[in-house]
Amino acid sequence: MELQIERVGKRYSGDKWALRDFSLKMGPGILGLLGPNGAGKTTLMSIIATITRPTEGTLHWNGSELAKDPNAIRTVLGYLPQDFGVYPNLNAVEFLEYLAAVKGLAATAARRRIEELLDLVNLSDVRKRPLGSYSGGMKQRIGIAQALLNDPQLLIVDEPTAGLDPEERVRFRNLLSELSGERIVILSTHIVSDVEATATDIALISQGSLVAHASPEELLRMVEGKVWEWVLPSAELPAARQSYLISNTMHRADGIHARVVAQSPPPQAAPVPPTLEDAYLFCMSRHRAGATI
Ligand SMILES: Nc1ncnc2c1ncn2[C@@H]1O[C@H](COP(=O)(O)OP(=O)(O)OP(=O)(O)O)[C@@H](O)[C@H]1O
Ligand SMILES: [Mg+2]
Repeated sequence: MELQIERVGKRYSGDKWALRDFSLKMGPGILGLLGPNGAGKTTLMSIIATITRPTEGTLHWNGSELAKDPNAIRTVLGYLPQDFGVYPNLNAVEFLEYLAAVKGLAATAARRRIEELLDLVNLSDVRKRPLGSYSGGMKQRIGIAQALLNDPQLLIVDEPTAGLDPEERVRFRNLLSELSGERIVILSTHIVSDVEATATDIALISQGSLVAHASPEELLRMVEGKVWEWVLPSAELPAARQSYLISNTMHRADGIHARVVAQSPPPQAAPVPPTLEDAYLFCMSRHRAGATI
């Protein structure tokens, strides 16, 4: 099982590229696609899902070229788009039965699968309630259920945790790790903690370019020995921000506790273990400065 993306670019109109020279190869596991708003995450995902045509470059799924044979991927794909909408008057079972029919699943097999999926996403109790009455988290879970109807080898979920409260977010993360195994899962987010625990691979994307593709451990290693805690008076924080990359600040009785990512520490700063958030900010700031990672 392999997805290969080679030098893919997308220009919607004019000379602005939403995605440029993007290459990446991956096998089974969870890929966290991490980047700020407008980075090109949705563009990349909809190209992989064969909904958007790339302006340049090629993609292969298990050796088949997508431009020539889009069905090679469509038959094994589950997709939860960023702007996923539900039919508010249908209940969960009706909605999933409808989508199963659209996907061409046989009715009896679909019925069994729908029961399994409702159980998996923990919506069995509310299966007869109209989807219009669901919370954001419940809608996202029904979105995942529809993406899993055909037991996809490739599961693409675009910002699935947007708008979820912290508990729903954790529940969703756990669900995704349960789903991994013999499949490729691609999950986009701009929140580092969404992929910290679950992703086997992380691709950082900014302004249409791949900034880094590495395991979470490798990313952490990049900032090993470069993260410091610095306690300073709050009045000095604006000046500190001018000179240092500050990944986090906390207000405490003795002043501001700032996390600084830097080669050499500010005066009196103490070394602290790095987090993925530090690594993310470090890579993004290096990329903005024009450095290669
Ligand atoms: N249909 C479109 N027509 C023109 N420009 C587009 C279109 N879709 C996206 N863009 C532009 O392409 C760039 C990348 O957008 P994209 O939606 O892929 O980013 P994203 O990383 O998914 O952002 P977000 O985190 O906000 O979802 C942005 O500059 C966006 O304005
Ligand atoms: Mg998006």
